[in-house]
Amino acid sequence: MFHSPKLCLALVLLFASALVSAQKLSDQEIEQRVNSLLQQMTLEEKAGQLTQFVGNNPQTMEMIKQGKVGSLLGVLGAEQANAAQRAAVEASRLKIPLILGYDVIHGYRTIFPVPLASAGSFDPQLIEQAERVAAKESTASGVKWVFAPMVDIARDPRWGRIVEGAGEDPYLGSVIAAAKVRGFQGKDIADPESVVACAKHYVAYGAVEGGRDYNTVDISEQLLREIYLPPFHAAVEAGTGTLMSAFQDLNGVPASANHHTLTEILRGEWHFNGFVVSDWSATHELIAHGAAANDSQAAFRGVIAGVDMDMVDGAYLSSIPALVQSGKLPQSVVDEAVRRVLRIKFKAGLFERPYADPKREKTDILTPENREVARKLAFESLVLLQNMNNVLPLNRNQTIAVIGPLANDKSSQLGPWAGNGQAGDAITPLAAFRQKMGDDHVRYAKGVDIPPFESGLAAGVAAPAPPSATGVENAETESRPASIDDALATANKADVVVLFVGELAGMSGEASSRASLDLPGDQMKLIDAVISTRKPVVLVLESGRPLNISWAPERASAIVQAWYLGVEAGNAIAHTLLGDASPSGRLPLSWPRSVGQIPIYYNHKNTGRPSAPDRWHTGYLDLAKDPLFPFGYGLSYTTFSYRNLKADSRVPQDGTLHASAEVENTGKREGTEVVQLYVHDRVAPTSRPVRELKGFQRVTLAAGEHKAVEFTVKVNDLGSYDPNMHWIVPTGTYDVWVAPDSASGLQGTFEVK
Ligand code: NOJ
Repeated sequence: MFHSPKLCLALVLLFASALVSAQKLSDQEIEQRVNSLLQQMTLEEKAGQLTQFVGNNPQTMEMIKQGKVGSLLGVLGAEQANAAQRAAVEASRLKIPLILGYDVIHGYRTIFPVPLASAGSFDPQLIEQAERVAAKESTASGVKWVFAPMVDIARDPRWGRIVEGAGEDPYLGSVIAAAKVRGFQGKDIADPESVVACAKHYVAYGAVEGGRDYNTVDISEQLLREIYLPPFHAAVEAGTGTLMSAFQDLNGVPASANHHTLTEILRGEWHFNGFVVSDWSATHELIAHGAAANDSQAAFRGVIAGVDMDMVDGAYLSSIPALVQSGKLPQSVVDEAVRRVLRIKFKAGLFERPYADPKREKTDILTPENREVARKLAFESLVLLQNMNNVLPLNRNQTIAVIGPLANDKSSQLGPWAGNGQAGDAITPLAAFRQKMGDDHVRYAKGVDIPPFESGLAAGVAAPAPPSATGVENAETESRPASIDDALATANKADVVVLFVGELAGMSGEASSRASLDLPGDQMKLIDAVISTRKPVVLVLESGRPLNISWAPERASAIVQAWYLGVEAGNAIAHTLLGDASPSGRLPLSWPRSVGQIPIYYNHKNTGRPSAPDRWHTGYLDLAKDPLFPFGYGLSYTTFSYRNLKADSRVPQDGTLHASAEVENTGKREGTEVVQLYVHDRVAPTSRPVRELKGFQRVTLAAGEHKAVEFTVKVNDLGSYDPNMHWIVPTGTYDVWVAPDSASGLQGTFEVK
């Protein structure tokens, strides 16, 4: 008999964990079980494993029982998930479990900052922790597979999906891609609190022409390899179980039928052994691309290229058996695709534990601890762009006017692609200011409403919600009608105005490209009116992209880019603006002065005419060519100085570069600086970007404190592709910067021998 309940519990836990590890199959055992299943499968059942449908309606449930479905998307809640799983595991002939997937782009129910925002935290550890939370909440709800991380590099903010990724830089994007995969998958995807990750959208979706969603991409192999592929490679290296192939055409071959990227690079060069799922109906869309005449040809092209699972359109299910029977499609290609899917199902422990534990739904979702991670990440993501006369932090004894259409809009705090987020969970800035300062010190006016766009497509016709979009409840808690007069009166009664403008959450994300970056609706009229009061104005922008604010540095006292910060948005914004901590977020992209500068990115080439005293150099007649704010830029409530750059003077090609600089907090309060390392290879077989980020560190310093910040980089990582696409590390002189952003810093040189 055990007399101590604690001892008893410990022994039970020990026994349970021994049982779990005993169940864990070795790779060899997994191969044996996969092959034994494969031998028993009919062609229809094989095509079924390669098929994903959406939802669990009665017809789909029947197909699951017939072994015609390998995965479902968008089945949420343990009860629903378990019902679908039961049909597969108990009622289908071979009892192969489903893998249930969902878009968990920045949180499942506890919604974190949109990915573009959290990239600006430059804090991979915290991002990993957030994805751990997302994995825990997802699995509690029966979701074992997330369609994330989205790792598309984007240089064009007209593209609505720029909000889903980590911005313009392949190094930052790679570090974050790996952190997210680690966070989702944990140490083992079989862990009941881990999900299988899906790096998407493979590949170069972010390069769509004109920033128009789904549009054509035609880029060089060098650009593909140096800019768009690295975050996918990082996700593969971090062990992502799956990838999603993209919608768009890539150099004449649609990404979802592209053998070069899906097989030669992904499997051949990177040895990826998970599986690839197509994006939503991307197989069927090969017909519209002009790459196939019908679903049968589309399925053939997809599976031959290396897309293993077909999302929602049923083309694989309807075509693969006949394609194999007619001898057009080798059986071995189909078997290999099935093997990849089954392997991940075994590795994810789905055969041992197909069901979600319904108890966890009550204990693991939207907990105070989860919200705390969201608040921390929101705080670190916010970027202070200007702070004239130290108008920030605000003085708590002042009366503040909280004005603007986004100050109290709950659903826009969450941002687009907000998983299973509920608008009611979000704390708005208005609510947070009231809670922190008391109602007497806070006045509010909405000012204007933001009307939805009437696009060319939607003019006169209500556009249907895209089938893959997830909506959040739109709850406006403050019902005062919007009026600029009201806003003026409110501003006049206050000491300072905090003005919340930007875009509604639905204005970025999928199928939400814009031709202009101007503030939509009458927001400029509201801004003009508020600025005319001559009160200090703190402009807080909420948006999924950089907007056109080239007027703002002259007219607003402070500028804060708050993106969409998630459930804890209001708390993070009020916390920062009231000075509870100093902001530390940085821009993960170059902020254009005008839409005409796009594409604009810091790692551009020098050109043959970079600058000159006369007009015969690269630029515009009517506008500067540099951005309004550079990549990596952001202020805090203190100041930092850099001195004493040191770098190895000579390093071998297979060696390591050491570089360091002293960074000092020269202000009066603690602050966190994001210290960045950039490199430039002066002469190489292919022209090199003027700078490339190769390292960064978040460094917290007390007032007056200084520190030597040291970087160590493998010289091999400073290389580039030669014209034949071989990776080389050219010898010769390189520039190096230790810098607060991509446009300044201390510069030195080193030689690669
Ligand atoms: C389409 C989107 O492009 C993709 O990102 C998403 O994962 C799927 N739909 C599934 O919802």
